[in-house]
Amino acid sequence: MHTKHDFLSLSDLTAAELSDLLELAVRLKQEWRSGGNQPILKNKTLGMVFTKPSLRTRVSFEMGMHHLGGKAIYIAPDEIQLGKRESVADVARVLSRYVDGIMARVFAHADVVTLAKYSRVPVINGLSDYTHPCQGLADLLTIMEHKGGVRGRTIVYVGDANNVANSLVFGGMLLGAHVRIGAPEGYQLQPDVAKRGAEFAAQSGGSLVQVADPHAAVEGADVVYTDVWTSMGQEAEAAQRAKIFPPYQVNAALMALAKKDAIVMHCLPAHRGHEITDAVADSMQSALWDQAENRMHAQKAILARLLA
Ligand code: CP
Ligand code: NVA
Repeated sequence: MHTKHDFLSLSDLTAAELSDLLELAVRLKQEWRSGGNQPILKNKTLGMVFTKPSLRTRVSFEMGMHHLGGKAIYIAPDEIQLGKRESVADVARVLSRYVDGIMARVFAHADVVTLAKYSRVPVINGLSDYTHPCQGLADLLTIMEHKGGVRGRTIVYVGDANNVANSLVFGGMLLGAHVRIGAPEGYQLQPDVAKRGAEFAAQSGGSLVQVADPHAAVEGADVVYTDVWTSMGQEAEAAQRAKIFPPYQVNAALMALAKKDAIVMHCLPAHRGHEITDAVADSMQSALWDQAENRMHAQKAILARLLA
């Protein structure tokens, strides 16, 4: 009986473990491109618990399991009603008697931690209010492909320093990137994320800087990353946020301050005309669709390491 491994946050990984996952993702992507993958998850089933909507996470995990010879079960928000119809711990206890792995998209990060605590099988965080580590892994893969690596690259995140930003910070810092956050006061990184990020940077040779001025943030960037101003679960704040964030829109004028060959990234779904303009999202600099595809390849590496 081996120890159960979960995938809850990139900050739980060492740089070596993160690099291993990325190398495996590259290999699985190559195999898939040249005609298919080995059925290493034959007879394995992933239970996918959603408490929020999803396109990418749902379909990329389902296809990933399919490629590896296994299957996935989609469990819609209304079905389990995590923590309402029955406790999070009881859901973990029961579900883990049926399936070989659990992927969960939750509101409170504590719920995915509780699932992992009471589950007999590995638990993967498919987005919580704190982190989006599957997205972070796919983002690092995308940066590697477009920029030839992560170490030493200047990665700028503009907008709300949310769950997606947190994963980008953890991953970027573990691998020695220079990450800048351009976010208004009150919407910058939580102190614990900034502290963890700085600790990783001290080990890897990376750096982490936060500024309120989006123009100063983007100057000389290799990668410009943005996400929605209002995340799922924050809808009550949408009107307030819509007043604060317009100066942080990633548009052609802002991109002109980055390096000429900079790429633009967004985890999607995008609110076009808000945090990103059509001109930028559909430009030659856009890595958005590669990034979305890479969710599948990155997650297959996670599944292979945790479930095989
Ligand atoms: N980026 C992302 O997680 O997309 P979905 O919400 O569609 O899964
Ligand atoms: N920050 C966004 C990401 C969606 C994939 C949210 O949490 O809603």
